[in-house]
Amino acid sequence: MSMTSAPEQAGYPGPAANRTGGAPWPPGAGMNGKATAVSDAARRLGVLPYPDLDYTAEVAAATQHLYDKVSDVIPAIEWPVHAPYVFHINRLKMTRNAVILAHNYQTPEIYFGVADIVGDSLQLAQEAARSDAEIIVQCGVHFMAETSKLLCPDKTVLIPDLKAGCSLAASITGEDVRALRETYPGVPVVAYVNTSADVKAEVNICCTSSNAVEIVESLDASKVIFLPDRYLAQWVASQTDVEIIAWHGACEVHERFTGEELRAYRQADPSIRIIAHPECPQDVIAEADFTGSTAKMIGWVKDNHPPKVLMVTECSMADNVASETPDVDFVKPCNLCPHMKRIQLPKILDALVYLTGEVTIDPLMAEKARASVERMVNLKS
Ligand code: 13P
Ligand code: SF4
Repeated sequence: MSMTSAPEQAGYPGPAANRTGGAPWPPGAGMNGKATAVSDAARRLGVLPYPDLDYTAEVAAATQHLYDKVSDVIPAIEWPVHAPYVFHINRLKMTRNAVILAHNYQTPEIYFGVADIVGDSLQLAQEAARSDAEIIVQCGVHFMAETSKLLCPDKTVLIPDLKAGCSLAASITGEDVRALRETYPGVPVVAYVNTSADVKAEVNICCTSSNAVEIVESLDASKVIFLPDRYLAQWVASQTDVEIIAWHGACEVHERFTGEELRAYRQADPSIRIIAHPECPQDVIAEADFTGSTAKMIGWVKDNHPPKVLMVTECSMADNVASETPDVDFVKPCNLCPHMKRIQLPKILDALVYLTGEVTIDPLMAEKARASVERMVNLKS
């Protein structure tokens, strides 16, 4: 269907990529969350002794089965550096009654070494809601941790680095949404989960890349405002008859791919299969054999076992899938998300020992934002 771009609102500071470079995260920490180094959680639950990080025979033996899962992508010489963190993080999870949720873009030592649940944004939100752990450690970016906190207001939610932001979430504020509503009175607003709680509080419903089309169509409206990703909006518009009014945010990782580079790969090897995330520009998606969320991309590789595949998304994901599908040859044009890469084993250990990086949300804002996320999670297809 058709898509129009919402006029730029006064105060919009330009392309998302320009906005995140070096800017503190979360924007206005203290507005949505407290970016305090020593959290209230530490005062409530107490800190634990910091463990010794020697690579002992006990550590080597206890982590060998985990190294076996990543030995294709992590050289043996590196494992003695990771293993003591992996060992103590896994022990401390039990002591703290904590669960580690890791997004598909996390590095293999996190994804296979310490995560309890891995998945795309939708799966992580659903698992957060189901979890009976006391503490959630979110290995992903800030909006994901905020979403977990919205769904689990009584749990302690920690993110190992509060500065792990997202160019999409940084591209729009709640005030921008209120201005959009004035420009398009009566038009319902769908927010991609890659937004702050401030934005979620102003919209009708949230969506992820997994369910965006279904959510837009669930509103039974002829016209919908879709924010903040202009490329995801274009992709949704191509899949539905609903007219889409888009905001102009973009993912700084996916917008770097071009159709031209994909054509060059295909020319070099016509047997290659190309699968893309819907945050990519339209000319990239036009070259793809399949488009879907990170979980759907992984499912596609596992179902189809192509001899050679190019995953057009953040490049740690190819390492994670490659470890599970050794028969598939992965071509990796490596675009890393600098925000996802802020999450590292030493910071996860700090979070469990000192309870750093607690995510808090203003209660009134949280109530409104929670309703938008719950409408998504509860939507039955
Ligand atoms: P999904 O994992 O939901 O596909 O989203 C990708 C993403 O934007 C994470 O940065
Ligand atoms: Fe945000 Fe893009 Fe990084 Fe995902 S990959 S967290 S959308 S900047």
